[in-house]
Amino acid sequence: MSSQQTIDLASYIRSIPNFPKPGIIFRDITPLLASPEALRETVRQLADAVRDRDVEAIAAAEARGFLFAAPLALELNVGLIPIRKPGKLPSETFSHTYTLEYGTDTLEMHKDAIKPGTRVLVVDDLLATGGTVEACCRLIEKAGGIVVGCAFVIELTDLKGAERLARYRPVSLIKFS
Ligand code: PRP
Ligand code: ADE
Repeated sequence: MSSQQTIDLASYIRSIPNFPKPGIIFRDITPLLASPEALRETVRQLADAVRDRDVEAIAAAEARGFLFAAPLALELNVGLIPIRKPGKLPSETFSHTYTLEYGTDTLEMHKDAIKPGTRVLVVDDLLATGGTVEACCRLIEKAGGIVVGCAFVIELTDLKGAERLARYRPVSLIKFS
């Protein structure tokens, strides 16, 4: 596809009702990942949305966040900080436990991943309640980093995650209500 044509990114998201539970519409990014044109355009648009934030590092939580964080880090010419589920990172970690609809979850980040004062952007595929990215932001702040924004491919607007993350100035490319 030539760079003159615009790509409708939303058309690359497949909606699957009742997955993983009845009543949930799962927004499936696999068709977007399967298209080099759509993936390239996604990364380009994410980069454009945060270019004025003087980003010095990208952070993302496994697993789907990594898919966009790595190419975005290359596009912005900055490093990537992986945030992982417990027990996966080999060196000393900071840990943050957060509340889900039912129960809790924990994420971890290496203590030496960020130099104090580093300007960090958090990236994820999808913003629902905002719990995952809020936990990432807390880990970055524990390490002395400055969260200069968070960027998402998809936002589920009804869940009001953008309000929860307002202090981190969230941006998203595709919105579903
Ligand atoms: C999904 C998605 C986001 C998070 C959004 O990840 O990739 O990280 O949920 O939800 P929230 O805004 O309510 O926190 P999931 O926990 O399903 O893990 P995965 O990336 O390993 O599939
Ligand atoms: N993560 C949380 N809610 C989701 C949804 N509706 N579709 C895909 N990933 C999600």
